Amino acid sequence: MPPVQFHILESLSPADLAAQARAGLLQAAATVSPKFLYDALGSRLFDAITALDEYGLTRAEAMIFASAGALIARETRARIGRPFDLVDLGAGDCAKAAQLIPLLRPMRYLALDIAVEHLQPALQRLRHAHPELPLLGIGTDFSARLQLPPTLCPGPALVFYPGSSIGNFDPQAALRLLVQARELAAGGALLIGVDLLKEKAELEAAYDDALGVTAAFNLNLLRHLNRLVGSDFDPRQWRHLARWNDKAGRIEMHLRARQALVVRWPGGERHFAADEGIHTENAYKWTLPAFAELLRDAGWRQPRPWCDERKGFAVVLAN
Ligand code: AVI
Repeated sequence: MPPVQFHILESLSPADLAAQARAGLLQAAATVSPKFLYDALGSRLFDAITALDEYGLTRAEAMIFASAGALIARETRARIGRPFDLVDLGAGDCAKAAQLIPLLRPMRYLALDIAVEHLQPALQRLRHAHPELPLLGIGTDFSARLQLPPTLCPGPALVFYPGSSIGNFDPQAALRLLVQARELAAGGALLIGVDLLKEKAELEAAYDDALGVTAAFNLNLLRHLNRLVGSDFDPRQWRHLARWNDKAGRIEMHLRARQALVVRWPGGERHFAADEGIHTENAYKWTLPAFAELLRDAGWRQPRPWCDERKGFAVVLAN
């Protein structure tokens, strides 16, 4: 059995991440990257979100893979036409890739994630299910730049980016990431999940559920920042807000101060007026034609979508 190999690329340095978070808190309109939502508890809360009645994305995508997985895999293999690596962006518990590996039959599986603690046990589990498949865990913050040393991934590769995480990038950053994904694929293909535009009430409920799980997910970011930058946020002084921004075509998540307050950390502080916010996440919702155009702008050809019955979610293959 080949051992599971791990590489940590230096983009993960806690000092760099803390500097990014501090800079975001000091912007005129405080904004921190959604990547700070995913510490160990945040990753668990996100898993809980995927089981909520209001949050249909994950189930819709799973249904597409369950009903069309074999067809998607066949077309992927035909388009690439030679052995390829499977590169999983934001692999998490590797569950989605685990389902597709027997159908795709890649040469190697490369799992990329910022949360390495989550990745290690997941790859060990995968090792038992696929003892012969070379597995590589890569700790990297690809939201800053998606690039791997060619020795790690010479290509061709199928870049797998499920879950509609592409929606957490603004269109310009999404374009940049998709261009970098194309370079990484080196003649391979892209298989990507994207949540589609739907009714405002449905979208807002998906990001502000009745049980308050998404609120906890958002508020937990403050605990993560406290550990990372040494700040003294008290989550009780904040409330979760999710709203649809029609002009921008996105759900926005914010944290709003319940009262005027000061947050302090070593060497800095930030005053917040009552109801002033920290912008923590955007989730863009795409139409199929607009998303196909984005893919083409990034150099990807022949985008082919598979949708769920309600046409609320699409998995798109391009090469
Ligand atoms: C990971 N990402 C695709 C999720 C989304 O729907 O934008 C993150 C999330 N935020 C709140 N709920 C789920």
